[in-house]
Amino acid sequence: MTTEHQVLLRGTGVRFPCAEGDTLLRAALRAGVGLSYECNSGACGSCRYELLEGDVRTRWADAPGLSARDRRKGRRLACQSEPAGDCVVDLSSVPEPAPHRPIRQRAQLREVHRLTHDMAEFVFVAEKHAAFSAGQYAMLGFPSGIERAYSMSNLGNCQREWKFVVKRSPGGKATSILFDGLGLGETIELDGPYGQAYYRAGDDRDIVCVAGGSGLGAMVSVVLGAAAQADAAERTVHLFCGGRAPRDLHIPEAMAMAGRRLRALHVHTAVSEPGSADSGSHQGFVHEAVVAKLGGALTDFTYYAAGPPAMTDALARALVLDGGLAADRLHFDRFS
Ligand code: FES
Repeated sequence: MTTEHQVLLRGTGVRFPCAEGDTLLRAALRAGVGLSYECNSGACGSCRYELLEGDVRTRWADAPGLSARDRRKGRRLACQSEPAGDCVVDLSSVPEPAPHRPIRQRAQLREVHRLTHDMAEFVFVAEKHAAFSAGQYAMLGFPSGIERAYSMSNLGNCQREWKFVVKRSPGGKATSILFDGLGLGETIELDGPYGQAYYRAGDDRDIVCVAGGSGLGAMVSVVLGAAAQADAAERTVHLFCGGRAPRDLHIPEAMAMAGRRLRALHVHTAVSEPGSADSGSHQGFVHEAVVAKLGGALTDFTYYAAGPPAMTDALARALVLDGGLAADRLHFDRFS
């Protein structure tokens, strides 16, 4: 039988079980308790907390999500803490949880579709279900013990299908397993869904989705999510995709179907390598393409973004700091 520890959130009366070996963050989310977080990997620092009573084991002692000041003040990361017994913790905020509780399950690789020279879609079929919101991600655990976060590129479904668009990362251990090591029919551990940057169906503003690299999958999912709503015909969506050169870009066929359900779907591309733009692409970074295209209408939209940290940081600066967009109208999860 698995050992369970009890975690109490000070000042809230909220208590939840944490299985031995699970992290404080994931156990809270599995129990339906909302905690602040983004990357689930030790990078962003948004899951900081203080341990008041009890012991925890730390998975990654040097995780960049904690500054030297945080460490001096005794702060820890909930995504890197495994309770070793009952404990009491202090959190700065307890937000609303996402609509779906994450579970761990096995998933079998069924199909691989090559999309570009270094990007492919991997289709896994899980043993239990595929319940998630558009724009969320899952942690894929490989037999070697490596675990990485990848966003789903489809919508939650009854076929137990989890699809991931992955860009090969030079020297990346996880992507080399996916591209070169994992055969059709082999299984991995899939833990999810996670992520706060999921599509908000109740928001009736028009939408801008901004994708870079593997972030394409999450943004495709958000566009599909918007197109699946009953009021899709009243919604305009702009999808911006960025890469270094045209050969890095791929617009999935599913976007044509989504475009027919929406009032309009405008797809824009941007390439950053000097002199590489074809006639249809913006020459420059994708956040620059957003500003150039939407201009004075920047604050009319709700934004979703997924991609490398440099891209999402530049976009946040352009939209929120320089453009005057309210911060809660830009949704993205920061990864390392
Ligand atoms: Fe824990 Fe990002 S550092 S969620």
